[in-house]
Amino acid sequence: MIKIHETAMVTSAFRAMDETLSKDQYAHLWSSARIQAHADRYSNAVSVFEPHAHCLRNRYFFDQLTDLASDGKIDMLINFGCGFSMYPFALPASIKHIEIDLPEVVAYKQQQIRSWQQLGKLPGRNIQYLSCNFNREYTREFRNTIKMHIGKASTFFLLEGVLFFISRKDSFRLFNLFSDLQRQGDYLGSVSFRPQLEQSRVFGKLVSFVEGNLKKNQQFKYQTVEDEFYEKLSGYQLKDHQDTLGLNSKYSPEKVLPEQEVLIEHMYILEKNKN
Ligand SMILES: C[S@@+](CC[C@H](N)C(=O)[O-])C[C@H]1O[C@@H](n2cnc3c(N)ncnc32)[C@H](O)[C@@H]1O
Repeated sequence: MIKIHETAMVTSAFRAMDETLSKDQYAHLWSSARIQAHADRYSNAVSVFEPHAHCLRNRYFFDQLTDLASDGKIDMLINFGCGFSMYPFALPASIKHIEIDLPEVVAYKQQQIRSWQQLGKLPGRNIQYLSCNFNREYTREFRNTIKMHIGKASTFFLLEGVLFFISRKDSFRLFNLFSDLQRQGDYLGSVSFRPQLEQSRVFGKLVSFVEGNLKKNQQFKYQTVEDEFYEKLSGYQLKDHQDTLGLNSKYSPEKVLPEQEVLIEHMYILEKNKN
């Protein structure tokens, strides 16, 4: 059985398979024989192109974040459902971070990061860790803590690899929180599958794999998201929209991706246009 948070370790193992492409030079720190075995089992059951697709996704956000940071447009990255992403160490030390995920993920991540920093394997960074379950109402304390850490900072909120796992109702609650916390000129990055993909064989394999591998007490009903959700998101303007195939043409044009066998993800970047 695989736990929901172990999906984040699998994602990390995929990024480690091509650190030059993914630009996650620390992804390998999270690997272990157990996680590599999960990653291989997942790729073989769902799509052998998943490691490559995840490297492309990380590379896209790495490049976007790096450009915004060097243009002085963002001071802080808040990663909702951060899993074992290592953006804090890929971005300049001046950028502040809030890492948010389920309690067990955040606790494990924080402990590992501290120990690698003590061993000199990772540089120091300004990171706050917060735990939250997106399936539940947010506490006033959670919201106020984020607001306090943001202060006057310009932010980039990231939601990568999460929407598939949560309901539409919980997504609305999350995007309302984003709108409440962000100010004009702030950025929001999000990743999702389009509803059209549901008809494909490869998506069916993904759903069967996730359903078949979750612990019995974990609830799961997948979500896909239509472009209109982002196009009509109140208070935000869509600035960029990419998908796995387009990113492949840009970053690894030599690699042939057979469309039918790829879990095509869509990446959106929005800018807050009013308070
Ligand atoms: C596929 S992983 C992606 C992790 C990371 N963003 C990445 O791209 O590598 C999904 C993440 O969402 C988190 N997650 C899933 N459901 C959640 C929930 N209800 N509340 C908080 N986090 C959740 C998981 O713990 C996991 O870290």
